[in-house]
Amino acid sequence: MSDHKTISGFSKLSKRGKIKWIVKTFFKEPDTVMSELMSYWHSNEEQQKILDNFSENTISNFPMPFGVAPNFVIDDYAYCVPMVIEESSVVAAASAAAKFWMTRGGFKTEVLSTKKLGQVHFLWKGDKFKLHYHFEDIKKKLMEECFPLTESMVKRGGGIMDIDLIDLTDREDNLYQLMASFETCDSMGANFINTCLEQFGQSLINYFNSHDQFKGDEKEVEIIMSILSNFTPECIVRVYVECPIEDLGKFPNGMTAARFAEKFAMAVRVAEIDPFRATTHNKGIYNGVDSVVIATGNDFRAIEACGHTYASKDGQYTSLSHCSLENGMFKFWLDLPLAVGTVGGLTSLHPIAKRSLELLENPNADKLMRIIASTGLAQNFSALRSLVTTGIQKGHMKMHLQNILNQLKASAIEEIAAIEHFEEEVVSFSAVREFLEKLRLS
Ligand code: MEV
Repeated sequence: MSDHKTISGFSKLSKRGKIKWIVKTFFKEPDTVMSELMSYWHSNEEQQKILDNFSENTISNFPMPFGVAPNFVIDDYAYCVPMVIEESSVVAAASAAAKFWMTRGGFKTEVLSTKKLGQVHFLWKGDKFKLHYHFEDIKKKLMEECFPLTESMVKRGGGIMDIDLIDLTDREDNLYQLMASFETCDSMGANFINTCLEQFGQSLINYFNSHDQFKGDEKEVEIIMSILSNFTPECIVRVYVECPIEDLGKFPNGMTAARFAEKFAMAVRVAEIDPFRATTHNKGIYNGVDSVVIATGNDFRAIEACGHTYASKDGQYTSLSHCSLENGMFKFWLDLPLAVGTVGGLTSLHPIAKRSLELLENPNADKLMRIIASTGLAQNFSALRSLVTTGIQKGHMKMHLQNILNQLKASAIEEIAAIEHFEEEVVSFSAVREFLEKLRLS
């Protein structure tokens, strides 16, 4: 191991000190890298402090494009959707689908439920039947002792909904679980849920210590851990688009609306039956979902983890979206678990997340679920439309052309020439490089 690449007390160094150590240890041009990293510091010190406090050992900021997709008509209301994403063509695809469906009734949504979950895992070596027998009383105590923590959430219309005792001893000796359900209103609720769960753990121990019927059993109980579950199969929003098949319009190479609808439905069917395709198909959905989740300061890791578990809930990983062609109607829909918030967490602390929510006219969590799911469905629609008509690369590489031109440091005149040339040609890094080389020689 090369010792000069390790350090103790790194977190205690100043920000400049951290960067200095990093650039001198890991980079060949320390001064250049140092000034590059520092060039991304926010010009306003207060703002920079806010960003630094989101994480630890921060040395700079990592910029990502912040775009918008206008013309999203969701439940007859028009939105301009903020999206943070680094991949070419995602915002364009969302915008194209939004515009397409705007003239065909828009996106229709329904929030099916908003239940969040959390678990306390514990070992109980005592009498199983005694635990089950007293559980209703234990539950009452857990709820009561949590009341000071839930009071303000209850005032907002939320709180603890229920607590179940789950017996896992058929899979692991002495292992039990408290499975608690919560309503967290407009917050994602992670802190609220985890605080309640840790209190449940404490209250459970208190109960065994203070009730005569468990005298002598106090040592038989041990809390393993208390944490929310990011799998929220009952925090679900449904979104769909539909129109008469003949209203789907015209497609490239003379493809009819009817043939398009059949190929589209078949593409969805493939994702329903094949996990390899389903993974890519759902990734396309999350291109849209994550970009709004990030733009609004929500936790995209939680949202993705949940979605993929949900996609496997019936025993095989499958498509999250579905399509039907019945009675001359094209219908395309998505049921998505989405535990998001519009208050708390980063939503009001991150300066741009706050603006994103303002752009959406400060939705509550219910409305944000609808907007995010619509963006996911829009993304999926655009991807499948390209895949079953022109193929994805044509549009994708056209969008990527600008990145390649930037990388090859094309001048404004060269850019215009390249964009014109590649209207009819296949875009690739080498093709663009060759084109520029020829142009520069001529
Ligand atoms: C690329 O980021 C996403 C797609 O692969 C999705 C899909 O294939 O459906 C285009």
